[in-house]
Amino acid sequence: MSSALNGKKIILSITGSIAAYKAASLCRLFIKAGAEVKVVMTKAACGFISPLTLSTLSQHPVQTSVSSEEGWNNHVELGLWADAMILAPLTATSLGKLANGIADNMVAAVYLSARCPVFFAPAMDVDMWHHPSTQQNVKKLQSYGNHLIPVGHGELASGLVGEGRMAEPEAIVSFLGEFFSTTQSLSGRHVLITAGPTYEPIDPVRFIGNRSSGKMGMALAEEASRRGAKVTLVLGPSALSTTDGRIEIQRVETAQEMFEAAKVAYKSADVAILAAAVADYRPGTVAEHKIKKHSDTYAIELVKTPDIAAELGKVKKNSQVNIGFALETQDGPTNAEAKLKKKNFDFIVLNSLQDPGAGFQHDTNKISILHANSTAEQGNKMKEFELKSKVAVAKDIVDELELVLKDKK
Ligand code: C5P
Repeated sequence: MSSALNGKKIILSITGSIAAYKAASLCRLFIKAGAEVKVVMTKAACGFISPLTLSTLSQHPVQTSVSSEEGWNNHVELGLWADAMILAPLTATSLGKLANGIADNMVAAVYLSARCPVFFAPAMDVDMWHHPSTQQNVKKLQSYGNHLIPVGHGELASGLVGEGRMAEPEAIVSFLGEFFSTTQSLSGRHVLITAGPTYEPIDPVRFIGNRSSGKMGMALAEEASRRGAKVTLVLGPSALSTTDGRIEIQRVETAQEMFEAAKVAYKSADVAILAAAVADYRPGTVAEHKIKKHSDTYAIELVKTPDIAAELGKVKKNSQVNIGFALETQDGPTNAEAKLKKKNFDFIVLNSLQDPGAGFQHDTNKISILHANSTAEQGNKMKEFELKSKVAVAKDIVDELELVLKDKK
């Protein structure tokens, strides 16, 4: 696993915990795995392990403050240099600073300047670890897209036994190794995803909508991001959120708003995955005030919304890949093929409402995929997949996308 770290530039940030003594072997293990390591330390960390030890091991000067007698230490440059930043050990105090953007030392300043994936391995006593403020700070850091390396359970420096031990250096190295062995396949790619329903207003309180949850689109966004893509998720009204802070979420309500946002993002996108359940019609006029129930019947004239997929299909460049979805209650394969052509998709993902567990609101889905280059003459080869979790389905779809991207080269 650790070979994935070969040539990687890693910032090892050490804060003031007794577990800091383990940072020496962590540094050695990274270097053994082929990584280049630069170390930054808080003043408190220097009380537990000497910067000289780390500079000797890393063969780079160790930075302990934003400025020193030699001048100003460039935290921005260091932040941009790195492929990964690992905070190990991360104390409760430093965790709190990072979660709240308090950059009063070199470690926090580098953290705020880093554009690379950030990993943190907390170390503290059991009660500090379980305190709600610590747990909230952990969640906050995760919500920014930082990766938690879980604490271990065992004997602590205080003599207490419980959770709070820093993960062992070997576990930290393999955590990063695993991350880099699976996340790079879409790096440099921009993926636009539309997801969720749209709400088309009737009056100030009512709308026409549908039961889409946005789960499939969110799973796709997280999978593409995990593989290193820059992801723009244009999300209709949905209760979903993500802990992956690298995903840019643009929340919209109506089909028209979704179209406007998708059009802009598509200009720089390599891939568009149109997973939204867009309303096909909207009320022609929106009542200014709440409609009263005066008559026994009430008719609303509906007009067509923009077909986002078809519009993007019209301006699609040869280098771009568009993926569509079809949710059919009858004649699935025939309808899917017609949509594939009409909307200029590279492939279409068909999910049938007839399969139990597939489609709206469920956590599982059963899909089949039809490629544009597999036409009727070739026997319309549908690729069938098993019923799986939407997370696993997202992996299958992104695998399929990678095959298409390879062919485009
Ligand atoms: O025609 P139908 O709605 O079944 O097509 C489904 C596909 O087209 C999906 O990929 C969906 O996201 C996309 N679509 C769209 N804009 C619409 C309607 C559908 O992008 N107005």
